[in-house]
Amino acid sequence: MLKGYHILTVTHKNTPLSLMGSFIFNEATEEELRAKLEALKAAFGLNELMYAATCNRVIFLFHTNRQVSGSLRQAFFNFVNPGLNGELIKKHVVHHEGDAAVQHLFRVAASIDSLVVGEREILRQLREAYQRCLDWELTGDKIRLLMGQAVIAAKDVYSNTRLGEKSVSVVSLAIRKMMDRHLPKSARILMIGAGQTNVLVAKFLVKFGFSNVTVFNRTLEKARAIAGKFSNGKALHLSSLEDYSGGFDCLIVCTGATRAFVDEALYSRLLNGEKDSKIAIDLSVPRNIETSISEAFDVKLIEVESLKKLAKQNLSFREQEVGQAQELLDTHFEEFKIVFHTREIELAFRQIPREVQAVREKAMNEVFRKELEHLDENSRSLVERMLVYMEKKCTGIPMRVAREALVAKAS
Ligand SMILES: NC(=O)c1ccc[n+]([C@@H]2O[C@H](COP(=O)([O-])OP(=O)(O)OC[C@H]3O[C@@H](n4cnc5c(N)ncnc54)[C@H](OP(=O)(O)O)[C@@H]3O)[C@@H](O)[C@H]2O)c1
Repeated sequence: MLKGYHILTVTHKNTPLSLMGSFIFNEATEEELRAKLEALKAAFGLNELMYAATCNRVIFLFHTNRQVSGSLRQAFFNFVNPGLNGELIKKHVVHHEGDAAVQHLFRVAASIDSLVVGEREILRQLREAYQRCLDWELTGDKIRLLMGQAVIAAKDVYSNTRLGEKSVSVVSLAIRKMMDRHLPKSARILMIGAGQTNVLVAKFLVKFGFSNVTVFNRTLEKARAIAGKFSNGKALHLSSLEDYSGGFDCLIVCTGATRAFVDEALYSRLLNGEKDSKIAIDLSVPRNIETSISEAFDVKLIEVESLKKLAKQNLSFREQEVGQAQELLDTHFEEFKIVFHTREIELAFRQIPREVQAVREKAMNEVFRKELEHLDENSRSLVERMLVYMEKKCTGIPMRVAREALVAKAS
């Protein structure tokens, strides 16, 4: 019964991330994307279609009564990208069908198929993709039911396993280590570099209420963009770092420079004579702060290698939770079969009330019309009320019995 569900997907598991862009729609605007998806749905006779693309996965989830053969898969991805060669499609596209498609979606939503197991971002991405395809009227009842159960299953996994418990992001681990030092909210923070990683660092700093942040960068506008997020934020050009005399409590360095330019001499100048204990965080690869500063000065140096080691340990902790998550997903898969079949029965039984009503009306107006004409007004009204009562009570019976049979079969 689940056999109309299909997923055609390309994922980080068997495809380099650099190739992922070849399997997605590269349409410039939302309207163009919508038009492409509508055309795809029509061209391949799909009843419903949902499309989701992230940096390490593309999913085409659809429902169709057609056979999805190898040649259809080729034509499908050539529709997405006419330049894709057949060998690449054969090698990278994975097809899940029926039960396997449903189970795959559950695994993706619960993030046990992710590159970083337990990252919840994927559930948000799936929900947004679904909402967009729903708004564009590409999806219908089948995908609605499946997405509904996938969200319930994923939330169950996130709440009842320790899958997402320990952080595996180097930035969040760094900030956590910084917070362990109980810095006051007014602490002076010097940030060097204004790239993507430090933008993320800044988000955490805002979240934890820090306000006094001075950002140094080669490109001043990028430093300004970060500094602007703090009530007491300042942006300075990197060339003025050597002359900075404001002191600091925490130094965060993350640039694309390939040498440890924060050496003992520069660090000493930045201290500006202060002797109390400091925190220095180096997120750069290769490192930008010389490790010898931790011997020469009173400083807690948080550097990327130890954070990466911790992230790896946390990831293997999460992976140990996968078995338990899978058990929960198996339960949700069984539940989904009941939900799906109940809905099928509901749809099939939808005309029963109308048909029973027609029988009643025929009985009153044709079959027993003459006999009813001989009854007085009160008796005729009583007969009619009895028939309406019977009609209401009886139309629910087949649905209830079918539902009970389904549940009994499943347990
Ligand atoms: N630990 C992790 O998990 C992780 C994750 C991602 C990245 N990283 C590391 O973090 C560093 C920055 O990554 P990102 O993603 O933030 O990069 P990004 O967005 O490309 O930004 C690079 C930043 O470094 C600056 N920069 C580049 N070359 C420089 C140089 N020679 N001297 C001084 N500043 C320089 C850039 O300044 P302009 O704005 O003026 O160009 C910019 O602020 C890299 O070392 C990367 O390997 C670590």
